[in-house]
Amino acid sequence: MESKKRILTGDRTTGKLHLGHYVGSLKSRVELQDSYDEFILLADVQALTTHFNNPELINSSIYDVAMDNLSVGLDPNKITLVQQSQVGSIAELTIFYSMLVTVNQLRHNPTIKTEAKNYGYEDMTYGFLGYPVSQTADITFCNADLVPVGEDQVPHIELARKIVRKFNDLYGTSIVEPQVKLSQVGRLSGLDGNAKMGKSMGNAIYLSDSAEVVWDRVRNAVTDPARITVKIPGHPEICNVYKYHCVFNADEAPNIHEMCSNAQIGCVACKKKLNEALNNLLDPIRERRAYYESHRNEVRDLIISGTRKANVIGDANLDAIKEKMHVTI
Ligand code: TRP
Repeated sequence: MESKKRILTGDRTTGKLHLGHYVGSLKSRVELQDSYDEFILLADVQALTTHFNNPELINSSIYDVAMDNLSVGLDPNKITLVQQSQVGSIAELTIFYSMLVTVNQLRHNPTIKTEAKNYGYEDMTYGFLGYPVSQTADITFCNADLVPVGEDQVPHIELARKIVRKFNDLYGTSIVEPQVKLSQVGRLSGLDGNAKMGKSMGNAIYLSDSAEVVWDRVRNAVTDPARITVKIPGHPEICNVYKYHCVFNADEAPNIHEMCSNAQIGCVACKKKLNEALNNLLDPIRERRAYYESHRNEVRDLIISGTRKANVIGDANLDAIKEKMHVTI
């Protein structure tokens, strides 16, 4: 039997995951879990790059992020959960890779620039500036072939490919050059009209949010501002709620477009439809989450055994790499 290709992807453990994460990566993780050997990284070291002053949050988020991944339908018998900080080979590879990356390369990375601006960093830490290097180690310690991510992560995968090529050329190693698998849906904007759904923006709908919270977000969503009464035809192309229909209620979206443009449906009715679609998605997720919340030891065991498996693979790969690099005695 031909062995499956490997996926590695992951999340920073800085809080619970939201719908933006779902459309950006979690959905593809579920779709690909049968055809790939899938590793999900709980990126608690990368979390430190922005949340170094809140280690308690990072630690408790390890469980939240693991449960979010399991709740969307990732099967613990198929996927491997890995706690980044407990995989020594990732840290060692990061150091080796860092010799092949210039500071300017990192400073010009568009995602680093945007994030630094959002976090208000005037002078970035070495760890933050260099997290794409550490992410390259995340992806390659297990020779992952494919990385399903949202578009903001593309510069990082491009850098990873560059580093791997250079490294293999220099040392004669055969580290796998990873490929990106971009989600079909672009960035999910916030229902409040913000360009991005984000933890820090206060506009996120979390996978673990109750129906009440979801309706609160949807009810308060900003729609077409020109549509003061139901009788005025709407402009779905500029409406956040319509954008969400396209993503979460795709079958009904053309019909909603038509009705809104002809003033046949009001914003409240339209929001109720979206609310229903979101709950159809979230209900089974909530149900699985309730199970894992009451079986935290099971989650812990999955993380520990997955991390152990990752270490066996990572250590073997690292040994071979060090041999080629003449980092031996
Ligand atoms: N940087 C990713 C994010 O913010 C999380 C991440 C860490 C990741 N390591 C990774 C993603 C490796 C893909 C592969 O969402």
